[in-house]
Amino acid sequence: MEIRKVGVLGCGLMGSGIAQTAAMAGFETTVREVSEEFLQKGFASIEKSLERFAEKGTLTAEQQKAARDRLFGTTTFDDLADCDIIIEAIIENLDEKQKTYKALDELCKPETIFASNTSSLSITQMMVATSAARQQRFIGMHFFNPVPIMKLVEVVRTILTDTDVYEDAVAFGKNLGKVPVRASDKTGFIVNRLLVPYMLDSIRALEEGVGSIIDIDNAMKLGCGYPMGPLTLGDFVGLDTTYYIAEIMFNEFREKRFRPATTFEAHGFGWFVRPEIRPRLLRLHERSEKPDADEFGLGSAGMESVPGAIATGSRLITRSLSLLGTDLTHFACSTKSFVRGSRGEFRIISAAPASTTSPASM
Ligand code: 3HC
Repeated sequence: MEIRKVGVLGCGLMGSGIAQTAAMAGFETTVREVSEEFLQKGFASIEKSLERFAEKGTLTAEQQKAARDRLFGTTTFDDLADCDIIIEAIIENLDEKQKTYKALDELCKPETIFASNTSSLSITQMMVATSAARQQRFIGMHFFNPVPIMKLVEVVRTILTDTDVYEDAVAFGKNLGKVPVRASDKTGFIVNRLLVPYMLDSIRALEEGVGSIIDIDNAMKLGCGYPMGPLTLGDFVGLDTTYYIAEIMFNEFREKRFRPATTFEAHGFGWFVRPEIRPRLLRLHERSEKPDADEFGLGSAGMESVPGAIATGSRLITRSLSLLGTDLTHFACSTKSFVRGSRGEFRIISAAPASTTSPASM
């Protein structure tokens, strides 16, 4: 089946990147969010990324306009009914995903392929929410952040996936300009199976005092040629996201290497922030307000599509790391514990004793 019309569920960090990539590759693309506000945020980050391509000369003004013209936003499922493929990039919550797939199954044409961008949940557990016929047209398509730049897509098959559907998805991945790798439906697929223990180990190494933040990151960047150190990567992916992936993988495999590092468990989410902005960030979080990028002098990049103040804080860290060099203190968010709300925001659930502001050398 030729894939022509693409639907994307969710216009957050990943969904907006997937929608942009599809539109840039020439596909008519409709992206669905729960509200206009979230949709606008997603479109703003797409616009920013298109501008970056245009500035570099990778995209001409006409191509930029053509990509925009192929992109539609919606807040209803109805507008996705005639899509050839729907790529879901909503919150990593099985119940939410199952509910969404069930609703779409009843609405979409029989040929529509359902694809999930989940990083760690089981595709098989998602597909059981749909009809027997749809289950054969159910796959995983796992993209990487930043989606418009990263070349990989993992194409995941279950034991029920129809071979033609799978090959259509692999071909579609290539048509998006990506390099597809084939993976079976095992938690974490290929990349996160290898990447997550590495990222968790970097936090453990920090906790054990093996090296400072800067030195651990530099070691892996300069010693192994990785574009980012593992701690910066944790912030880039989002410490919240990393935590949840680790938790899902640990529950699945029960292996120590997937266990969320203590900094997550005991102290909520680790932050790497300048000491002087830390109290202000915490105060804002307590009032459920988001930090203003300008107020912190960090520019607006990286602030979009982030559900809550804590997650926003973790993105601030990336900026802090690159802007401030060695002038950093590790701050494990020691005074609070957090729980994730239904839309991905964070709430303080308990106050733990303040103890662990690590030495400035970190
Ligand atoms: N849109 C358009 N262009 C972008 C962009 C975006 N969103 N993000 C970066 N770029 C472009 C920049 O303009 C720049 O272009 P140029 O080289 O032509 O000037 C180029 O990409 C490099 O960007 P920067 O100069 O800003 O910075 P870096 O050289 O450090 O590259 C990076 C940024 C591409 C993000 C690089 O650091 C990198 O590859 N990091 C690793 C990312 C990674 O590992 N991602 C996977 C995470 S795991 C995941 O997503 C799976 C999930 O399940 C956990």
